[in-house]
Order: sequence, then C-alpha cells, then structure tokens
Amino acid sequence: MGDKHRVRFEPVGIEIEVDEEQTVLRQASEQGLMLMHGCKEGQCAACKSFVLDGDDIELDRYSTFALPDYEKEEGFTLLCRAHVYEDVTIELLNFDEEMIRSGLPIVNAVAEVVSIGKVTHDLRHLVLKLIEPSEITFFPGQYMDIKVPGTEVTRSFSMASTNGRELEFVIKVYPDGVFSSFLDGQLTTGDRLELTGPFGVFTLRDAPDRDLIFVGGGAGLAPILGLLRSMAERGIDRKAVFYYGARTAKDLCFVSEIEALKEKLPGFRFVPALSEPAEGESWDGEVGFITDVLKRYEADLSGAHAYLCGPPPMVEAAMPLLASLGTPEKHIYYDKFTTTGGED
Ligand SMILES: Cc1cc2nc3c(=O)[nH]c(=O)nc-3n(C[C@H](O)[C@H](O)[C@H](O)COP(=O)(O)OP(=O)(O)OC[C@H]3O[C@@H](n4cnc5c(N)ncnc54)[C@H](O)[C@@H]3O)c2cc1C
Ligand code: FES
Repeated sequence: MGDKHRVRFEPVGIEIEVDEEQTVLRQASEQGLMLMHGCKEGQCAACKSFVLDGDDIELDRYSTFALPDYEKEEGFTLLCRAHVYEDVTIELLNFDEEMIRSGLPIVNAVAEVVSIGKVTHDLRHLVLKLIEPSEITFFPGQYMDIKVPGTEVTRSFSMASTNGRELEFVIKVYPDGVFSSFLDGQLTTGDRLELTGPFGVFTLRDAPDRDLIFVGGGAGLAPILGLLRSMAERGIDRKAVFYYGARTAKDLCFVSEIEALKEKLPGFRFVPALSEPAEGESWDGEVGFITDVLKRYEADLSGAHAYLCGPPPMVEAAMPLLASLGTPEKHIYYDKFTTTGGED
C-alpha cells in the first residue's frame, strides 16, 4: 500500500481516496463507483478524462492511439492507467450520473467450472459456480475479469446469466490467444478459477417509454442475452429488437432460446443476419453486415436506447449509423470487445 490522495470528479462532485499503487479507475471500482471504461488496458480511450487540477499523475503503459501525446500535453488522461501522487481534480468527459452512483463494489471470487460447451466452431459456453463467496451481486450485462491460472494475465468476459451464483459466459476462441488456448487446451470441469468484478456500464437503463435496439456480433451476444433474459424474468415489456450478426449460419448460437424469449417479451423482435452465408447453407433470413440490415429496417430511432456489443469495428460502424437515425449519443451504450494480445 502506498500513500493515499484525494481525487475529485467533476461535474458530479464525487470524491474518493486513491492509493498511489492503484489506478484511479480500479480504486473507484473498489469503492462502487462505476466510471465509464472499456478495456482497462489503455487501449480503447473509453475512460479518457481531463485533469482540471494537479500535475503529479503517472500512467502505466498505454496505447498512443487511445491517448496521443498532444492530448496528454493538453491535460487528458486515461483513468485506467493513471496513478496519482497528489490531490487532483478530474473532469469526467463521458459519464452517466445514474450509473456512477449505482455501482457495486468489485469483489475477488473463486469459482468452479460446471461445464464448457462448444456452441459453435469458435464459441464456447462456459458455466461457473461461485465457491467463495457463494454469490455476487451484479447488474445483467456486466462483465468479470477471469485470471489465467499460474499467470498474472486476466481477460474480461461478459455475463450472459442473470443470477450471482452461477455465471455463464460466451467466449470466442482465438488462435494462439492466451485465454483461448487455456480454455480450449487445459480447462476442465471441476477446475477452479479466480475472478474479479463486476465491472461495466452495459446495463439496462430504467426508461420504460423508450424502445430498445440491441446490436450484437459474435460473442457480443453474451451481455445482450443477459439483458434479454433479465427483461423476461422481470416482465419488462418494452418494444425491443435484437439485430444479431454472424458470418455464416454455423457462427450463430442460442438462436432457439432467443426466439423463445418472444413468448415472454411481447414487444420483442429478433433479426439474425449473416454477412457471408456459406455456399449450400440453407438460410432464409437477412443477409448483409448487421449495420446494413439495421438500416433497412429502421428509419427513425430518435426515441430509442441502443445497446451495442461485439468486436470494435462492428461497434464503431453502428455508432454513427444510430446517430444518423436519430439516437442521441448519450443513449447509445456499448461494450467493445477489445483484445489485448499483440497490441501496442
Ligand atoms: C469489456 C470487455 C468484455 C469482453 N467480453 C467478452 C466476451 O463476453 N466474450 C469474448 O469472447 N470476449 C470478450 N472480450 C474480449 C476478451 O477479454 C479477450 O480479449 C479475448 O477473448 C482474447 O483473449 P485471449 O487471451 O484468448 O487472446 P489474446 O492473447 O489477448 O490474443 C487476442 C488476439 O491477438 C492475437 N495475438 C496475440 N498475441 C499476438 C502478437 N504478439 N502479435 C499479433 N497478434 C497477437 C491472437 O492470436 C488473438 O487473435 C471482452 C473484452 C472487453 C474489453
Ligand atoms: S483506455 Fe481506459 S478503459 Fe480502455
């Protein structure tokens, strides 16, 4: 433990104490303050903020794509990488006051593998049972960091489940990925894993009069499935559409469960689409990039809240499209599944 300093966040007027050895974002999460973030690795810029007062701030390794040198000189910083060595005041640039204050403190947990299912050629359905503590509290749509045993490597995975005793994940396996190789090569039923969380702001905002647009690609299905399941459990009957993009039919999963959710969610439509249907594949659904499919269906989304999740290019393509269809930027919520391996 190092010396502690006060960090004040504006314009929300919240103050926390931050240990020099911890990043500001991590310390805020430990105190239940849910600040906007994505990768937590200095890669995505989601946590970018402005230093209003204080100079003695040092950053752990980060990508200059997320924080170019000229921005750093102007006073911008990345909260996921920032250690403070004096009292500072930070202006949050991207925040949702309701979410900040509704945060749950993160916990370190141990869980046991219940099952690892192969739901497509490169997607796995991992189910874990919590051992210590036996239950955690999270909001559907949030994610956990899972540690690769015997290393200091952690990877973030969004929860598709809605209760805090058994956690479900949908995980894409990358060739030579650190977690991927461990998941496919070593992990078996009964093994124990260390997890930390919950993290994330991909959670359903309370706005009963707003329609919902979900856009997910690949494993980005996971937190959206979590949100839909939770809506079904809670009887939330907001009008909702899930645009689910995959490359070929063999890349789709959980389709029958999602179709069946229509029975419990009267205002729900499901639009799966394939960007490159394989030759000879029987498919009578939509074809095209999921953003192009959405554009064909929607003309005015000014009254909607949108939730985007999946690979960064999909999220980045969907954001301007939704904005052009009228969705206010502050009502576009997203999780980019940035990968850390092999990047600067
Ligand atoms: C908020 C959040 C939520 C997420 N939720 C999910 C989820 O629900 N499901 C999911 O599947 N993923 C999710 N991710 C992504 C996940 O955390 C991992 O990044 C991803 O699974 C890859 O991890 P890995 O260790 O298998 O691969 P990594 O080792 O990180 O490698 C990733 C890719 O980089 C390549 N690579 C590795 N090293 C090099 C190198 N030296 N040079 C070039 N290329 C290299 C690998 O081959 C692979 O293609 C989420 C990410 C974030 C930020
Ligand atoms: S750069 Fe800080 S969360 Fe991604």
